[in-house]
Amino acid sequence: MSYETILTTVTGPVGILTLNRPDALNALNRQVMLDVVHALNTWEQDDAVRAIIITGSQKAFAAGADIRELQSVHYLDALHTQFLKEWERVADCSKPTIAAVAGYALGGGCELAMMCDFILAADNARFGQPEVKIGTLPGMGGTQRLTRLVGKSKAMEMCLTGRLMDAEEAERAGLVSRIVPLNELQDEALEVANRIAGFSAPAVQLNRMCINAALNTTLEQGIAIERQAFLSLFGTDDQQEGMQAFLDKRQADFKR
Ligand code: CAA
Repeated sequence: MSYETILTTVTGPVGILTLNRPDALNALNRQVMLDVVHALNTWEQDDAVRAIIITGSQKAFAAGADIRELQSVHYLDALHTQFLKEWERVADCSKPTIAAVAGYALGGGCELAMMCDFILAADNARFGQPEVKIGTLPGMGGTQRLTRLVGKSKAMEMCLTGRLMDAEEAERAGLVSRIVPLNELQDEALEVANRIAGFSAPAVQLNRMCINAALNTTLEQGIAIERQAFLSLFGTDDQQEGMQAFLDKRQADFKR
């Protein structure tokens, strides 16, 4: 399948989605949104794809929503179409997602990265929510996800001043899971994705569900969700196999 604004490849069990609007630093317009949603829908239905990487170029993961497009949006149209809402599809993806971020991840770019399960950052990555500088605010979940990830104080400062964070600060703040050298980013992301893809899919899926639940529940509710998920895995052959393989000192052979 070929797309106008993204490149897609499948390497073993990993789908790699590369944002590809180099002339606009991968700014996210409606066509990018349609292409990304289509690619995710396709991979969700393909059992061979077990993990997904979303990435950009070495200069920019994505420099935000396309300001040229935003500039022509009128309120009633935006209200009617719930402008940008479809991006939430990324956060709802049923397969594990890794954002491999090099260069700028600004505005909607930072928000897209935060929709993924976690962010691997190249050492040249820069994150920010500079929307205030153009008279607006993050519209793809940034005020909510950034605050949950880095806390109120830093989220406020980022959104109210438009200041960018470098990779080191983003790692210290908990926005990214790890920093890798720029030239190793793609290989490292692929290795991590392959590792996840090699585990039992139900175990991966329920780990994701529980961690996401932690962002939206009280501790008590989250613990109850975790307990039920944990108990349910006793019903899978893969869990039996994983534990038996450990005891036999051999590699587990997961079936799902
Ligand atoms: N939308 C549309 N075009 C963009 C863009 C964006 N968000 N970001 C960069 N571009 C375009 C530039 O217009 C330029 O195009 P031309 O060559 O045709 O002029 C091209 O990409 C290269 O950009 P620069 O020349 O500006 O590159 P630079 O290296 O000097 O600066 C940058 C890089 C600091 C990222 C700068 O481009 C920039 O500040 N971009 C805008 C960042 C921003 O404000 N993002 C938030 C957008 S709003 C949003 O995202 C809302 C939301 O939450 C959903």
